[in-house]
Amino acid sequence: MLVNTVIYMGYGKEITMLTKKMEAELNGQINKELYSSYLYLSMSAYCNSIGFLGFANWLRIQAKEELDHAMKLFDFILERGGNASLATVEQPDAEWVNLSNVFDATLKHEQFITSSINHLMEIAVEEKDFASMSFLNWYVSEQIEEEANAEEIVRKLQFVGDDKNAMLTLDKELAARVYTPLAE
Ligand code: FEO
Repeated sequence: MLVNTVIYMGYGKEITMLTKKMEAELNGQINKELYSSYLYLSMSAYCNSIGFLGFANWLRIQAKEELDHAMKLFDFILERGGNASLATVEQPDAEWVNLSNVFDATLKHEQFITSSINHLMEIAVEEKDFASMSFLNWYVSEQIEEEANAEEIVRKLQFVGDDKNAMLTLDKELAARVYTPLAE
């Protein structure tokens, strides 16, 4: 069992530092969230290039939310006395066949992120790192929503098929999405 060091922050205030393993895994997750942001921004540019501005808007907001997910991890690492080390963010794809291809890839990517969060939670449980468990619970819940949102658009695109009017209606629906910053 790994023993965490306690660091003192002032009178009666102490926090338990992250283990090096947990710190490395959380840093890895920052990179994945930043890549998610990059990927969705690239997808947004593609949707824009083919004239679907509503889809582009939805993905652009998604990219912003992924940045928030990365920053939440960044702040948590610092709060726990760890080092936030930022690695190279991989270049995302820039070309897709069509909108269905974009959202199939979105859903697949979110499923990958869910498995990554589950892996982080497994480590937190293994290390009896209760603070990380509590923190990661937020991501576990968020991933349910992330997958459900992507899946809903995948299903709508399947339903719409080649119907251009229905596609424009869906584009209009996605144009209504607004960015909501994470609560502090
Ligand atoms: Fe940060 Fe879409 O997961």
